[in-house]
Amino acid sequence: MDLEGYIEKERFAEAVYVTRPMMPAEAEYNALLSNIWKTLWLTNEAYWHQQFTEALKKYLKVSELVLFCNGTIALLIALKILDIEDGEVITTPFTFPATPHIICWNGLKPVFCDIQPGGYNLDPQKVEEAITPNTRAILPVHVYGTPCDVDAFSNLSKKYSIPVIYDSAHTFGSWYRGRSLCDYGDLSVLSFHATKLFTTAEGGALVCHNQEQSKMAYYMKNFGIADEETVVGVGINGKMNELSSAFGLASLSKVTREIQKRKLLYQLYCDQLRDCAGICTVSEPEDCDWNYAYFPVEVDKEKYGISRNELFKRLRRCNVIVRKYFYPLCNRIPYYAGRKDIPKIPTPVADKTAERVLCLPMYGDLPHEYAIKICEMIKTFPKWAEV
Ligand SMILES: Cc1ncc(COP(=O)(O)O)c(C=O)c1O
Repeated sequence: MDLEGYIEKERFAEAVYVTRPMMPAEAEYNALLSNIWKTLWLTNEAYWHQQFTEALKKYLKVSELVLFCNGTIALLIALKILDIEDGEVITTPFTFPATPHIICWNGLKPVFCDIQPGGYNLDPQKVEEAITPNTRAILPVHVYGTPCDVDAFSNLSKKYSIPVIYDSAHTFGSWYRGRSLCDYGDLSVLSFHATKLFTTAEGGALVCHNQEQSKMAYYMKNFGIADEETVVGVGINGKMNELSSAFGLASLSKVTREIQKRKLLYQLYCDQLRDCAGICTVSEPEDCDWNYAYFPVEVDKEKYGISRNELFKRLRRCNVIVRKYFYPLCNRIPYYAGRKDIPKIPTPVADKTAERVLCLPMYGDLPHEYAIKICEMIKTFPKWAEV
């Protein structure tokens, strides 16, 4: 059989997406919605918003948490409430574009540093080398819910008196040394986008460490309005509405089970791909109760026989909607690459990783036979050379 024949025979009849949202039980969500019909409160920190905030604080074991309409606006506000008004913010290129974009939206300059060899997160050593008198903050990302070197970043923060804000968009359900991974740094931001392990369709949260910060976050996501006659700053509309709040509240009880199911899939994928030369899976992070939010593999073309891009194309033709998280690197996006005022720091590790990485479907309800079939495809494809 040739490749065409194989794809024709083996392809999934329907798309197998990289993820699927974890939905609340429909009846449970509908029951919460009836309160919205009764009260006619759709937004502005009403009943479900308050309930959801308290439930999340309890679940994540954090003392201060402010809900947002999405993670991007929460990140935008995080820099605002730390009064960072000019200068540079050091971040990673191996992330979703929202991370550097919010630096620019704040009128600041993103400085991209490399990631750690053998990992996916910003390298604290490279960050230290990039610190200048203009550095105002460090913005690392806990990529795939794996913990950054939080001790090293905390030391840098103290040594240079620079705040650390974590983009924790991927961390929901990851615990590091017994503490929620989103509870590190001066501030930390979660995303509840539909592609995330825990979702409110669109949504996000800012985890703060004192009441002053969370009060400011509340004002800033509400146009800077402190009360009916007082506007304390140039705020924006970043509020989460009642429909999303109720959705999140009704979903919380499902998270533990979702993570258990993902863990089984993680183990299955690892077992199936263990002997596949040139396909490298990610190890469980140390000291971490991981959330298994993603299943990235790295393709070593020399050993595997075909490139990541060719594997991507073949899987897509088989209706497996894999994603190149994160390609292109943010420092290679034309806007950032073209900005003359951004220092061009080499990022060889991130460059190599972005050329090799591929995220396979990962969600609790992914049938095990689908995961096995996807692994079979991955193991079979090198029979046909890349042309
Ligand atoms: C690393 C990272 N940062 C930020 C965001 C932005 O979050 P949101 O879509 O909730 O605005 C995302 C994903 O969407 C992300 O993956």
